[in-house]
Amino acid sequence: MAPTLALLLGYVLGSIPFGLLLTRAAGAGDLRAIGSGNIGATNVLRTGRKGLAAATLLLDMAKGAAAVWIVEAIWPGMAPLAAAAAFLGHCYPIWLRFRGGKGVATLLGVLIALAWPVALVFAGVWLGAIALTRISSVGGMLAAVSAPLTAAATGRFDLVLLLLALALIVLWKHRTNLTRLLDGTEPRVGGGSRSE
Ligand code: G3P
Repeated sequence: MAPTLALLLGYVLGSIPFGLLLTRAAGAGDLRAIGSGNIGATNVLRTGRKGLAAATLLLDMAKGAAAVWIVEAIWPGMAPLAAAAAFLGHCYPIWLRFRGGKGVATLLGVLIALAWPVALVFAGVWLGAIALTRISSVGGMLAAVSAPLTAAATGRFDLVLLLLALALIVLWKHRTNLTRLLDGTEPRVGGGSRSE
């Protein structure tokens, strides 16, 4: 019973589409019809509303961390299950016919609650890669791949397989970004000829 409830609670929390809700509440339209069509903070930034983008980033992270902390407090030992469920809830929300986000911010959120050293490296890789390339998707994908590697390097072998699976889902969700990267048409954040 506990694993089912942990999965359900994690999934429901993760499935809250903050980017979509905030942009709609702010009168900025339907995020799915803007830019990449993604419901994450990077696409909210394309509406020109930096505050909304920051709020989306923080809330998408917070729901992942909250899912892990709440589930672990109620059902000790269920944290990894809650992490997976919250991540899947964000990427495949039932409310949006399973068309959700790409999982990067929510993955960072669950990592903060599960294994902070892994989260720290993730955040560093994410921000560092975006600073170097000005491309959000490159940062997100590299950060996701760093997670199972850092888990192994820091002795969290219990998390390696789970984080490997989540990283593969992040890569899969970025398949259109990968095509644009290969074409040289992936947009950059804040500056340059292909800036947003
Ligand atoms: O976290 C999402 C980001 O990596 C890519 O977003 O809107 O450029 O597809 P987007």
